Parts: sequence; C-alpha cells; structure tokens
Amino acid sequence: MRHFTRAVVAAFLLASLCTAQRVAEGGQCSQANNRLDGATGNFVTDCDHQTFCDDTGICRNKTCRQDEYPLGYNEVAYADLPPLCPQGQFCPDEGSGCMQQVGTGQGCQLDRDNQCSPPPAELRLAGELNTNGSICLNFVCYWSNVTLGQDCIFENKAYSAFDNDGGSFGYVFSRDNCANGLYCDGTTLKCNHDKKIGEACTGNKECQSYWCVDNKCHKAAGDPRRPGVWVYPVVAICIALLMVGIGVGLWLWHKKTREKNRIKLEQYESEQTAYRQALLSLSNARESIMALPKDTPEFVARQSLYSLDGYRDANRGGYASSIVTGESPPGSRRPSSFGYEDRGNEDDVLIIPSSKARG
Ligand SMILES: *[C@@H]1O[C@H](CO)[C@@H](O)[C@H](O)[C@H]1NC(C)=O
Ligand SMILES: *[C@@H]1O[C@H](CO)[C@@H](O)[C@H](O)[C@H]1NC(C)=O
Ligand SMILES: *[C@@H]1O[C@H](CO)[C@@H](O)[C@H](O)[C@H]1NC(C)=O
Repeated sequence: MRHFTRAVVAAFLLASLCTAQRVAEGGQCSQANNRLDGATGNFVTDCDHQTFCDDTGICRNKTCRQDEYPLGYNEVAYADLPPLCPQGQFCPDEGSGCMQQVGTGQGCQLDRDNQCSPPPAELRLAGELNTNGSICLNFVCYWSNVTLGQDCIFENKAYSAFDNDGGSFGYVFSRDNCANGLYCDGTTLKCNHDKKIGEACTGNKECQSYWCVDNKCHKAAGDPRRPGVWVYPVVAICIALLMVGIGVGLWLWHKKTREKNRIKLEQYESEQTAYRQALLSLSNARESIMALPKDTPEFVARQSLYSLDGYRDANRGGYASSIVTGESPPGSRRPSSFGYEDRGNEDDVLIIPSSKARG
C-alpha cells in the first residue's frame, strides 16, 4: 500500500492549499468543483478541510475520517474528531459518511484500495503495494492476483514531489494487479518477476526494493542493512577481547589498591605495637615506685620517677638533677637513664618541673 504517498505530498502542499479561501461550515458550495489536485492527487472541494459539499450545495461537517490524524483538524481534540469507519466499510475522500466496501470491477477513488472489498485471506494476495490483496487501478477495484506471464493492468500516476530547496520534481508511481513478487511490464502488459538489487531496470516498479536509480535496482532507503557473515565472528571476538581486557584491567587496578591497603595496615600495626610498649613501660615504672624503700622521702620518690641517680644524689645530700635525655621513654627506669650533673650545656637537656627541690 503506497497510500501514504498522497498524504506526504499533501502535507508538503498544505501551505498552498491554505492560501485558497475555502467555504466554512454552512456556506454555499458546488459539487461540480469537486476534483483531484493535478499535482498531488489530493481531493479538493469548495469547502474547507473540516466540511464537505453536500447534495444541496451546502458545506457540512464531515461525519467520518480516513486517517488517524486527519488534515485540517489542528485545533480539534482527538476525541472530537469525526469517527474512523469500522472494518468492511470505508470513509470516502469527501468525508460524507462511512460506506460499504465494493467488489472487484466496481468504482473506487484514486489510490483508495481500502474502498475495495479484500479477497479471502487464504489467497495470500496481501502485499506492500496493495491493501489486504485488493487494489484500485484507474478508479476500478481489482485483486492483486495475476500470475506470471498473464495479462495485467497498470496505472501510472505522476505526482509532484518537493526537495529541500523547495524545488519540485515529477515522480511517477506505477501500480498493477500482478501478484506479489511480480510487476506488470508496460509494453507487453504481462506479469514479470521482480528484479533483485543490482539488476538492470527502467522503473521503480521492476525492482523488489521499488527503487531504480541509474537503471539499476538499489536498496530501498528504509531497508535494513545486513552485514556479511564474517562480521559476526569478528564482533564476537571483539566482545570477548573487550571483556577479558576489562577483567585484566580491573584485576591490575585492584592489585594496586590492595598493596596500598596492605602498607597502611602494616603501619597501623607497628604503631599499635609501639603504643602498647609505651603503656607497658608506664606500668613497669609504676611498679618500680611501689617498690621504693619504706623510708624514702616524698620528694625523692617523686624525682626518682625520672632518674635512679636522682635518688642517689638525694641520699648523698646533693640535689637531684632529675634529668633524662630524649632517648628513653618517660618513666622508664632503665639503667641507661642517667642524671645530669654537668649542667654546662642546657640546650640539649630537658628540665623537668621540680626545680623547687634544687633550691
Ligand atoms: C461543526 O463542527 C464544529 C466544530 O468542529 C462545531 O462547532 C459545530 O457546531 C458543528 N456544526 C454542526 C451543525 O454540527
Ligand atoms: C486488512 O486486514 C486486517 C487484518 O484482517 C484488518 O485489521 C484491516 O482492517 C484490513 N484493512 C482494510 C482496509 O480492510
Ligand atoms: C483474480 O481476481 C479477479 C478479480 O479482480 C477474479 O475475477 C479472478 O477470478 C481472480 N483469478 C484467480 C485465478 O483467482
């Protein structure tokens, strides 16, 4: 069915159609002016898009529509559009009301295959260039059932088409009543096989793709592209490689972050160990205090927290130096801790706050 061709061309011509002032609902019209537009095949009357010219010469609201979204109803809500016709009926170009489909040999309007009653579905005549197997050629209904080498009928209709620059060019649309896969030869008037892509042609209708350019059948613009068989394994291999690559990349990246985390944990553990040792030293020092002789004077006991020598000095009646170097943790009573009696270099030493005792 190439019914849409008219709709597309009609849409292009909408502007020029609107320039002609049309009679609105209730106005006067003449059915004698009903005609098909020469360039587009569009049905035109004196009345506007929403009305038709009735038998009494008055423009009346249309009572049916043939398109889901009809022309000229921009401001009308979808629910308020005139109704579509049920199956077995059709809406004529006028829009004057649904009518029963007609049989073969009876009249129909241009490119309105759906005005013809379809052949039984089991004949499988339905195809892209007809409507459910019936076709309207030269205003007469047919079935698309003529077989190879048999006499056929065709209709060539020239339309004006428009390109992007606004220029127009002629476009001939040829239809016939040959069965699917066949076309009606214009000179012999017999049905021939359609031509495949790449074969020589003189018109679109000869090609399966309905697209003849430079005397050769070409792929239709809307046809899906089919890649060669070799493309599938190549794509599969690429996908597999990509997946492996992503896996390896992630593994390497995780390895790096795992290494970083391991170093952090090691540092944390050694800090914890150092902290624990410091606490142990503190508790050792406390036990040492408890172990001081009973008659230790209070001020000596205080000083001896920091230096054994300090205690000794005090016993000798001297003053406690009570100085430790930075080397040993505070409070650790280690033999290497020593008092400082030579006070020549005060910069190097830490003086602890018990200077009262010195005085
Ligand atoms: C024709 O249709 C218009 C809107 O589409 C509506 O306002 C008007 O009443 C209709 N006329 C008749 C006679 O139904
Ligand atoms: C064509 O056949 C389909 C399926 O039976 C049906 O829905 C559709 O209305 C038919 N079209 C016409 C124009 O009769
Ligand atoms: C083909 O269709 C026509 C109507 O267009 C019909 O009269 C004729 O019997 C059909 N031929 C076959 C072989 O079905």
